[in-house]
Amino acid sequence: MASQQLILAVSTIAILLVARWLSQSIRRRKTYKLPPQVPGIPIFGNTFQVPALQQGPWAKKLAEKYGEITWVFLNSSRVVTDLMERRAAIYNSRPPFPMTQGIMSQNSRIVLMPYNEQWRTVRKIMHQILSARALDVFMPFQDLESKNLCWDYLETPDRWWSANGRYANSVIMSVVFGKRSSLDDPEVVELFDTVEMFLENQQPGANLVDAFPVLDKLPKFLQWWRPKGMKIFEKTAHVYRREVQKLEEKIKQGTERRCFGTDFLQTKEVKTMSENQKLFVFGTLMEAGSDTSRVTIGQIIAGAVTSPDWVERARAQLDEVCGHNAERLPQWEDRPRLKYISAVVKEGFRWRPNIAEIGAPTMLIKDDEYEGYRFPAGTVFTWNAWALALNPDEYEEPERFWPERFLNGEEENALKGHWGFGPGRRVCVGWKVGEMNVWIAIARLLYCFDFKAVPGKPIDTMTIPQITKNKAPFDVQVTPRSAKHAALVRRDCEEAVKTQY
Ligand code: HEM
Repeated sequence: MASQQLILAVSTIAILLVARWLSQSIRRRKTYKLPPQVPGIPIFGNTFQVPALQQGPWAKKLAEKYGEITWVFLNSSRVVTDLMERRAAIYNSRPPFPMTQGIMSQNSRIVLMPYNEQWRTVRKIMHQILSARALDVFMPFQDLESKNLCWDYLETPDRWWSANGRYANSVIMSVVFGKRSSLDDPEVVELFDTVEMFLENQQPGANLVDAFPVLDKLPKFLQWWRPKGMKIFEKTAHVYRREVQKLEEKIKQGTERRCFGTDFLQTKEVKTMSENQKLFVFGTLMEAGSDTSRVTIGQIIAGAVTSPDWVERARAQLDEVCGHNAERLPQWEDRPRLKYISAVVKEGFRWRPNIAEIGAPTMLIKDDEYEGYRFPAGTVFTWNAWALALNPDEYEEPERFWPERFLNGEEENALKGHWGFGPGRRVCVGWKVGEMNVWIAIARLLYCFDFKAVPGKPIDTMTIPQITKNKAPFDVQVTPRSAKHAALVRRDCEEAVKTQY
């Protein structure tokens, strides 16, 4: 019986794929004019060519070979702006992902939602908590948590990567759940595990059904990927639910601190929302708010180790403002006089865009014409993040970490001049919070600490891994700049470590 089912499944898949491939190829050739296509294999096209890791360098080579547009990859800022920004109304939906969105997220993860009412509702909720108006809610937490970060770098320099993760996670946990996180807290580690599981499964080619959504039409009992997807969903929902339930319990007992969660749980939106959607609003804030800042701070440290010249120039400005003898930590109020730090942060988003190495796929929802090409609705586009960031036509000396490129009067416009937060209507909804997380952390870390390569372990900045199973992606030696800087951290940061809620 089992073997009959298997034969039935295999032949159904084969028939579906061949039929779909034939009809699409014929229709496309007749009706549309597409850009040069990267040679692939029949039916599967390029699905299995995309490497599981280091996709950025791979896609950059394609861009060099095929020009400004390769079928799905947009390889110049000009075309990204023309299509994904100016025509965002039709270019920024998402293709279906039956595994990662349908099963693993029960259709509730905002980042994979197509343009629809559900996406607009969730995006509006996220916007309320993360928009510019809400920033003074974040600033005191970023201040406190970045002091804790400096303390961790001083006391446990080998755990600098975990300290980055704790820092970013604790900022968002404080705002959303009214509670702090501790270093290597097993529940935070578990949260990062769920992020990595999602990222691993989101890689092109990781799940055949996401490359060929037609497979989703198979009867459920034949969908061999389903049990794995359900297991990941259960684990993810458990991690999210645990936090939400703790908050609900505190509210019941009247011991809660006022935070986004307490307000959100009273709103009319939440009352009409499915339980899964509620969990994924909380979960996405935790996930997206933590990993991204951890990675970006890491990238800037890699830049400091491999091109120390700019660190000297950053220090000159920091010393000018905060004192040459470790007088005080950089503060939010110093920002107008620390333009160089704002430029460092922008360069950190541009330099090796490891959050989304090959962008994030979006789907065209209406046939469209552009410069002689005719694209059918359903075409999948992405901005080729690495190729854009490292293209000499876009940036002078693109491989160099060189903050001066952003000292152009636009230092405070964190979105301008790079694609680190994505384009158009899907632009990262937490960009300002993320930028500020990185700004205050980097200003303080650069003022107080030296970063050097560990002897015998140079950093290859072109292959810094994105998925690391909670280990540091590279080795670095962290030491205080001087005894006075160490004393400053002890003096000004201890209080932050002792603060509990
Ligand atoms: C620190 C740096 C950050 C970087 C580099 C970053 C980067 C990105 C990127 C590349 C995207 C995809 C954009 C697209 O599809 O076009 C994205 C989407 C998103 N980000 Fe961020 N992000 C950061 C911080 C944050 C923070 C702090 C939060 C929330 C607490 C957040 C929440 C989101 C959400 C909810 C989306 C999905 C938006 C949608 O699909 O409509 N991000 N981010």
